[in-house]
Amino acid sequence: HSRRHLVAGNWKMNGNSQLATQMVAALNGQSIDGVDILVCPPSLYLGDFKQADFSLGGQNLSEFASGAHTGEVSASMLLEAGCKYVLVGHSERRTDNHESNDLVAKKVEAALKNGLIPVLCVGEPESIREDGTYFDFISAQLDAVIELVGIAQFAHMVVAYEPVWAIGTGKTASPEQAQEVHKFIRDHIAKGDTDISQKLQILYGGSVKSANAKELFSQPDVDGGLIGGASLDPQEFLNICQAAK
Ligand code: G3H
Repeated sequence: HSRRHLVAGNWKMNGNSQLATQMVAALNGQSIDGVDILVCPPSLYLGDFKQADFSLGGQNLSEFASGAHTGEVSASMLLEAGCKYVLVGHSERRTDNHESNDLVAKKVEAALKNGLIPVLCVGEPESIREDGTYFDFISAQLDAVIELVGIAQFAHMVVAYEPVWAIGTGKTASPEQAQEVHKFIRDHIAKGDTDISQKLQILYGGSVKSANAKELFSQPDVDGGLIGGASLDPQEFLNICQAAK
């Protein structure tokens, strides 16, 4: 397939200014054929990436444009801070901050309105994996967004599949398990628009490291990764980016 690969580092609530400086030094000038690099640090550190020659993203955004929403960050603020992308609906926010499918859809809409590329995160918890209803679970996560913003907007989005049982657990989905769900997601989008489904980048997330990245990224419907823990080590993250070639 002709889709470019995207490797995104999600620092979560980790790192500091010093790590930002080290990351810029390690990644700048590393152009990897067919691979785009994205780093999503805590928003306070976006300013430390001014010299970066790779993409930046937020980890979350408000569904509102502005106003009395203490502690929140808007799409336009992320854009002004240099972001091209924003993670939306990460499972940790769905759990810790009770983000529903409908709220996630509103956040996707807010990102799109401002020209940010939402990286829509979907994925089932372990109990859903075990009872075998994960396709239904993931369909519902996608459908809430499709219903609000319309299928055409998926031309301006990225989807990340992160099985919750594989996040930070060291328990990676097998390449076959990842491929099965990635293909399901692409087929689901294809029901609305085949062309858009073929162009859609679908990233895998959940305990990706340089040792397992190549096998995952070589699956036909896996177009890169969303990397948590392993994105905090500049050399390891660079190795994962190189595995996406
Ligand atoms: O956003 C990244 C994912 O939640 C994966 O995290 O690589 O630490 O398992 P992890």
